[in-house]
Amino acid sequence: MAEFLVTGGAGFIGSNLVDALLAAGHNVRVLDNLSMGKRSNLPLDNPHLRFIEGDVADAEVVAQAVAGCAGVAHLAAVASVQASVDDPVSTHQSNFIGTLNVCEAMRQHGVRRVVYASSAAIYGNNGEGVAIDEATAKAPLTPYASDKLAGEHYLDFYRRQHGLEPAVFRFFNIFGPRQDPSSPYSGVISIFTQRAQQGLPISVFGDGEQTRDFFYVGDLVALLMQGLLSEQVVSDPLNVGWSQAVSLNQLLAEIGVLCGGLPPVTHLPARAGDIRHSRADNARLQAHYHMPEQTPLREGLRQLLGL
Ligand code: NAD
Ligand code: UD1
Repeated sequence: MAEFLVTGGAGFIGSNLVDALLAAGHNVRVLDNLSMGKRSNLPLDNPHLRFIEGDVADAEVVAQAVAGCAGVAHLAAVASVQASVDDPVSTHQSNFIGTLNVCEAMRQHGVRRVVYASSAAIYGNNGEGVAIDEATAKAPLTPYASDKLAGEHYLDFYRRQHGLEPAVFRFFNIFGPRQDPSSPYSGVISIFTQRAQQGLPISVFGDGEQTRDFFYVGDLVALLMQGLLSEQVVSDPLNVGWSQAVSLNQLLAEIGVLCGGLPPVTHLPARAGDIRHSRADNARLQAHYHMPEQTPLREGLRQLLGL
């Protein structure tokens, strides 16, 4: 059976992908530095899984992890936009150098297929009021977005020059089980649901009218599996969203319904570089991929809340 490498595989999206690969009968290697990921997200007693604790910024470690595998899902990164604003130098090591190391290791070892976790953040505020298609001008507002966009450019260079087969997905806002709520840098749904369940006050940055296109992790994994395993792959980047805008205020109302009320909600100043509206035009994704049936926001929240 083929063996795949998942960088960042101990994290939220990565560990959900690892489960799907193992369930489909594949062998899996995970490379993760456990900065956000956890061993407990992985079935470490599964003989088809090999866990390597290491950093994607370390070229030698990456080369060893890549050697002999059939394909790579490169998900390792500091996923928080705010963390990149606070610490651009350190996050650049993970978010850009890590990607370059993966490209170079794949070239060295003749591995071609790579799934890359890019981001809607690369469009900046150019999606104001409209659904963003892939041709929308790029306007990275933060080091996080700049690194993700640079990674796309490097993958394209390695495709043209060295025959890599990148499947580039621009994720909008992914949510679901195993998204770690414990840091202020965590995804908003993980923070809001945990605080609602524990009765702790909730902070909204700005007026709460900013919108996001939330996408359930199980639905995303179905797409990542196709990107990794399908015979052919489109090299053009693809938006991953449902083209549905949900404001934070609407999100809080949904959580309130499911939890039977909300703790106190405070408004703080908006975050620097925070995007106002983010909604995907997903026509290109639909044209090239078998779309999973959508897990609606309410159903996804139920799963997350264990209801
Ligand atoms: P996550 O923090 O749960 O997963 C990232 C994993 O990468 C963690 O396990 C972390 O320990 C690991 N990691 C970080 N830096 C590393 C390094 N230098 N070396 C090795 N491992 C490292 O976050 P996630 O939401 O699962 O994000 C996965 C990927 O998807 C990231 O690349 C992120 O930028 C991207 N993405 C996420 C979203 C989202 O809404 N969650 C949206 C767009 C893109
Ligand atoms: C998220 C992802 C990022 C991805 C991008 C793609 C995380 C941590 N970030 O960034 O990896 O590339 O989507 O669209 O998964 N907020 C609050 N209160 C909080 C936390 C957040 O009001 O306690 C607000 C933020 O200011 C922001 C919104 O909620 O307006 C979403 O924030 P966040 O979940 O961090 O996601 P993005 O910044 O959209």
